[in-house]
Amino acid sequence: PIIRREDYQAPAYWIRTVDLSFDLDPAKTLVINKMTIERNAELPVQSLRLDGEDLNLTRVMVNGEPATFRVENDQLVLDALPDGPFTLEVRNTIAPEKNLQLSGLYTSGGGFFTQCEAQGFRRISYFLDRPDVMAVYTVTLRADAEKYPVLLGNGNLVAQGELDGGRHFAKWHDPFPKPSYLFALVAAKLVSREQKIVSRSGKEHLLQVYVRAGDLDKTEHAMNSLIASVVWDEARFGLPLDLERFMIVAVSDFNMGAMENKGLNIFNTKFVLASPATATDADFANIESVVAHEYFHNWTGNRVTCRDWFQLSLKEGLTVYRDQEFSQDMAGEASARAVKRIEDVRQLRQFQFPEDAGPMAHPVRPEQYQAIDNFYTATVYEKGAEVVRMMATLVGRRGFAKGMTLYFQRHDGQAVTCDDFAQAIADANPGSELAERLDAFKRWYSQAGTPQVTARGAYDAAARTYTLELAQTGTPNPGQPHRLPSVIPFAMGLLASDDGSALPLQLADEPGDTGTHRVLVLAEAEQRFVFVNVDREPVPSLLRGYSAPVHLDAALADTALLTLLQHDSDAFNRWEAGQQLALNRLLAALRGGSTQLDAAFIDAMRGVLRHPTLDAALKELVLTLPSETVVAEELGAEVDPARIHALREGFRLQLAQALRDDWVWAFETQAPIGGYSPDARAAGQRALVNLALSMLVLDATASGDTVWPGRAYQRFKDATSMSERFGALTALVNAHAELAAPALERFHALFADEALVIDKWFALQAGAPEPLGEGAGAVFERVRTLAQHPDFTLRNPNRARSLLMPLTLMNPAAFHRADAAGYVFWADKVVEVDAFNPQLASRLARSLDRWRLLAEPYRSAAREAIARVAARAELSDDTREIVTRSLQD
Ligand code: ARG
Ligand code: ZN
Repeated sequence: PIIRREDYQAPAYWIRTVDLSFDLDPAKTLVINKMTIERNAELPVQSLRLDGEDLNLTRVMVNGEPATFRVENDQLVLDALPDGPFTLEVRNTIAPEKNLQLSGLYTSGGGFFTQCEAQGFRRISYFLDRPDVMAVYTVTLRADAEKYPVLLGNGNLVAQGELDGGRHFAKWHDPFPKPSYLFALVAAKLVSREQKIVSRSGKEHLLQVYVRAGDLDKTEHAMNSLIASVVWDEARFGLPLDLERFMIVAVSDFNMGAMENKGLNIFNTKFVLASPATATDADFANIESVVAHEYFHNWTGNRVTCRDWFQLSLKEGLTVYRDQEFSQDMAGEASARAVKRIEDVRQLRQFQFPEDAGPMAHPVRPEQYQAIDNFYTATVYEKGAEVVRMMATLVGRRGFAKGMTLYFQRHDGQAVTCDDFAQAIADANPGSELAERLDAFKRWYSQAGTPQVTARGAYDAAARTYTLELAQTGTPNPGQPHRLPSVIPFAMGLLASDDGSALPLQLADEPGDTGTHRVLVLAEAEQRFVFVNVDREPVPSLLRGYSAPVHLDAALADTALLTLLQHDSDAFNRWEAGQQLALNRLLAALRGGSTQLDAAFIDAMRGVLRHPTLDAALKELVLTLPSETVVAEELGAEVDPARIHALREGFRLQLAQALRDDWVWAFETQAPIGGYSPDARAAGQRALVNLALSMLVLDATASGDTVWPGRAYQRFKDATSMSERFGALTALVNAHAELAAPALERFHALFADEALVIDKWFALQAGAPEPLGEGAGAVFERVRTLAQHPDFTLRNPNRARSLLMPLTLMNPAAFHRADAAGYVFWADKVVEVDAFNPQLASRLARSLDRWRLLAEPYRSAAREAIARVAARAELSDDTREIVTRSLQD
């Protein structure tokens, strides 16, 4: 069934309180759910329909008396109910150990865990399982004391004690009304790291991170990240921790990254556990940002939640924006902030752009869905965050903080919409560009697709004017006749073409106002901006900091891009210029132009690498070519993944060879000094050194030299941190098969008991660049073999993803094969996983979203594989929605 946004209706009943009790047993858990309910007086009298899924219903009582009820398509229906408030008691049993879809209450590693967003609560008990029904929960857990010594729930612990038969209990009460998707419980054998903190108000809070006994030494970074998050939210937005106790629990079987359950966040172990020996710098950074993300949801998501699931970006876009800002603040200096911004934009282009151009394209606030779990997307999250960022740009930093304050004044404790949020930000900033154009701005919520902005500039030396013409286009949503213009904050500056110095910006119609950086607002299909008193020929620096999520076509000449790369005060645009230079060359080569990199490009890259003051992290980003996916999207049709791969690898080798001495210099001089610290600066230095090593091994392999591969192997063996060790291993796996084999074996033996490291071991091999010529096809064959490895299982989502995603999503040349074997493998795995975990299967199903971009024979073969999955009689709603949309024109 298709659910539509326009069909929203308020609930016919309100559930005010919930008293839940659980007798936990893996095979058969008894759930007793006592609710106090009131009719919604604003609607006509109607039946009460409670959602339920895979429940064994044993009893239904109204006001303490057995009630008449029926069960109709997964709903418990009660027709005749008292007019005033009443109590409803529902008893049912469930089988957590059989719950392999990991939604609702399930077992993992001998413990009990829950995941209720979006619709998992109905798999625990009958309920009005929708976010606008908010209730106060009291929860009693009973379980074997030996097997499950730790019993956790939302809110505060109000009682605990022993029971007969070796069992014990704990009773939790959460004073904040919440929707069912924020419910959580944990019963397991765990230990915790604890920390007491005192917030500004003087209140004391207990922070806890719960993990399995052997993992306690890997929780320090998560705890530090949590403390930093609490401090940051209070300082930046005045939002304090509102709970006596805040808990994070790590679980190794988890469909997503983490979940913001009130007071009891449940996390994928991947986003909690880290030690220098087992986690890379990227892992440390991800933990910091996911811990922050979930913590920030406590206000943006929990205190103010979504009215319905179409509003998902209300909490997700805003919370991603907040975690991005947090990570930037944690990174420190301006250049490190820019690095974080570049990483976020890279993610957007790698995952959200393809989504927005493919069969799953949807607005930030979707209009319809079949399975809501399919809409936890890069569009709702990352593009949603860009929409919030644009609002912040239009009202300014202080204006945005004022808007947040008004948002909470108006809506604390409510379930609201994206409109309510935008209105609060605008109303707090009367006269701002946002307030003046709010309706037009909100098209960002309703129109899918990435707008295309064309920028053309002309300098008139005689008149001393520079005219910038901006135009925007885009494809309309299905069912909409044409696309209306978006409101695009367009940050820019002008650099002198001779020495790159910043030129003053003075618009013809705004005399007197000068500065060297400003935000134009493009709100029409076409607009012209005339700058006056421009003394020197300028190079425009456009869309600085990536001020709007658009495709920009500025058609800048190489000379202009080189000026920006060298001189722009906006570090983001320096990187962007370098990417554009590389992309121009890749695209030209694909269209039959030269496959040899020119001296100007090589010299520019050398200039960046050797630059005396640029951040190592920024250097590493500039010196990394655009990904094969980004190149394919830019090409837009007739994509031959093998060709893109061959050309890009060819360029990489040329960079390795031409800058050989410079890579040696970087490797030998740019490493951080001192012991391991995951801070942004040291991480950036390690990233650059790892890139240098990769380039040196690549160059050596091509020339038959053995020194650098040997050094890489040595470094792999002697490394003192995972970042170093994995960097060296990557260099070997990507370019030196002979030494890669023993290194991989050694790595596996060393970390046999570290599940998250074994995930890396699988991922590295599945994501390795396909050899050119002779050995082509080896990576895919290796993945097929690894799928039979004793350590491999589809049951654990991290492990399944570790092998399947790097191949199908990140390694186009290995996945797309003329013999279609990759697609057959994909279809088999989608079907196999779908039988027990639809959410995981439907993610995997999306790897072929962009099949229409492909050239033949890939295109037909890919369509056939999708059609084969779609033809299955038994398929979850989740996966069916993906493959059906994929095949629609
Ligand atoms: N709200 C969680 C987060 O953003 C993600 C929950 C995802 N759940 C799902 N069924 N897709 O941190
Ligand atoms: Zn979230």
